[in-house]
Amino acid sequence: MSDEKSEVTLHSDRRGFCKLAGSTLALLALSRATASAAPAPPEEDGPKTVPDTKASLPPGALKDYRKLGNFFLVADAKGVYAVSSVCTHAGCSVRSAGTGFECPCHDSAFDLAGAVTQGPAKLPLKHFEVRESAPGGPLVVDVTKTVAPDARL
Ligand code: FES
Repeated sequence: MSDEKSEVTLHSDRRGFCKLAGSTLALLALSRATASAAPAPPEEDGPKTVPDTKASLPPGALKDYRKLGNFFLVADAKGVYAVSSVCTHAGCSVRSAGTGFECPCHDSAFDLAGAVTQGPAKLPLKHFEVRESAPGGPLVVDVTKTVAPDARL
C-alpha cells in the first residue's frame, strides 16, 4: 500500500518536474528570440536636423543616425540621400555592413541605396526627404516624407 502511494507521488513529482522544465525551456527560447530580434525603436515624427552639411559629405560618406531618427545619411556621386534603417521584413534595425546594410534578425541584406540584395525582405528601405536648413547649412531629414530612391540633394 505504501509502495503504491510512493509510486503515485514519484510519478506526480516527475510530471511536475517535466512541466517545470518545459516551461523553463520555453521561456528561455522566448527570451533569446526577443533579445536577438533587436526591433527598431518607433520612428519619431518630424524633421531632424543633423550637424552635417552637403559639403561635409563627400561621395562614399555614410553617417549613422539610427538613434536620432532611424536613418542613415549616405552620399554617392549624384548627391546626398537619407535611407531608413528600419528593415522592411519585420521592422528590426539594420546596420551598416560593407557595401550596404544587413539585418541581424533574419539576415536580409540591402545595398547602399536600400535595394534588397538578400531576403526574406522583399521591399527596399525607404528614402526620406533631405534638404538644407539654409544654403550650405546643416541638413534636415524629414522622416515623415518618403521620396523616390533616386532622389538626391
Ligand atoms: S526583420 Fe529584417 S530580416 Fe526580418
